Amino acid sequence: PSLYQSPIVSHQPRRESLTMAAEKVYRASTTAPVNIAVVKYWGKRDAKLNLPTNSSLSVTLSQSDLRTLTTASCSASYPASEGDSLILNGEAADVAGARTQACFRELRAHRAALEAADPSLPKLSAMPVRLVSENNFPTAAGLASSAAGFAALVRAIADLYELPASPSELSLIARQGSGSACRSLFGGYVAWRMGDAADGSDSLADQVAEASHWPEMRAVVLVVSAAKKGVSSTSGMQQTVATSGLFQERITNVVPRNMEAMEKSIKERDFSAFAQVTMRDSNSFHATCADTYPPIFYMNDVSRAAIRAVEAINTAAGRTVAAYTFDAGPNAVIYYLEKETEAVVGTLYRTLGEIDGWKAATTQSLNSSVSLDEGT
Ligand code: DP6
Repeated sequence: PSLYQSPIVSHQPRRESLTMAAEKVYRASTTAPVNIAVVKYWGKRDAKLNLPTNSSLSVTLSQSDLRTLTTASCSASYPASEGDSLILNGEAADVAGARTQACFRELRAHRAALEAADPSLPKLSAMPVRLVSENNFPTAAGLASSAAGFAALVRAIADLYELPASPSELSLIARQGSGSACRSLFGGYVAWRMGDAADGSDSLADQVAEASHWPEMRAVVLVVSAAKKGVSSTSGMQQTVATSGLFQERITNVVPRNMEAMEKSIKERDFSAFAQVTMRDSNSFHATCADTYPPIFYMNDVSRAAIRAVEAINTAAGRTVAAYTFDAGPNAVIYYLEKETEAVVGTLYRTLGEIDGWKAATTQSLNSSVSLDEGT
């Protein structure tokens, strides 16, 4: 796969209005990418507003490989009794959850303010919203989809409502849907600043660098298991905050240090530093999971074999050419530079291909390493 395989359309709203019978249907479509953290968000200081205990930083993956496409529509002809609705991958999904409701509420309030200021605007805020959402990656890829999902939901409705909001402003809303979603409003390298305001008004995402700043960066997803994770991120991190002593060390010392080193490595395009911080932060996060009581294990034997394989690749190269990271599940994401594709992806494929139960599961993703998303 080459760089920037498809033009990024997510920040160019497609909004049209169709005249259907007597009532107009207003519509907007958008896409949002998946992001994979290299300094992990793990812990909430306010569960209601979804405020984190630490800042985090992620890399946005290419939308041609992994993205959610969402269309939002509203119309006075939609029966009010129907309320807001969501069809996700072809099936009716729940929108009654507190987090989805928070996103709807905030977006409607912004639209209502525009309508109050300009009475000539159609009263979209009073109409039910219908959302239709599709992921272009199989659920079987075992990837968390909430980040791309909530980012696309928020941007589709913001476009529908023609809100004059910047990606950072939208990130404040997406954060309330799912913390990691606030980082999917941007391409490239993205920081979620934890902020310190009690109302969460400064807990938002910003872009550290565009993807084009470091165009050689690549990521490959190694699918260890497509099964849904045992302990959800939301409840796992709550248990960690409540019970882990190691967690205090992580949020006080480890993460602030990693955030600084990570931003520096990206600015300087220093892959070795980037890779080491990535791997150490993943290890630190999984250590706090193991220190949670009862302990949480997201990685399995195959995940650990992937870690050993990456270590072997780096040792053989005599430098750090590959970095692993794991979220709240056993699948590995490996970062590397384009020129090291053979040394990294080729070796992973050969080594891990010998491990039972791995080859079949990984062949596909190893063959389609993903490039990074162009900045929005
Ligand atoms: C391990 O964003 O899914 O992937 O805010 O409760 O929805 P909620 O959690 P979520 O947690 C992601 C955790 C992580 C690390 C990361 O993406 O930074």
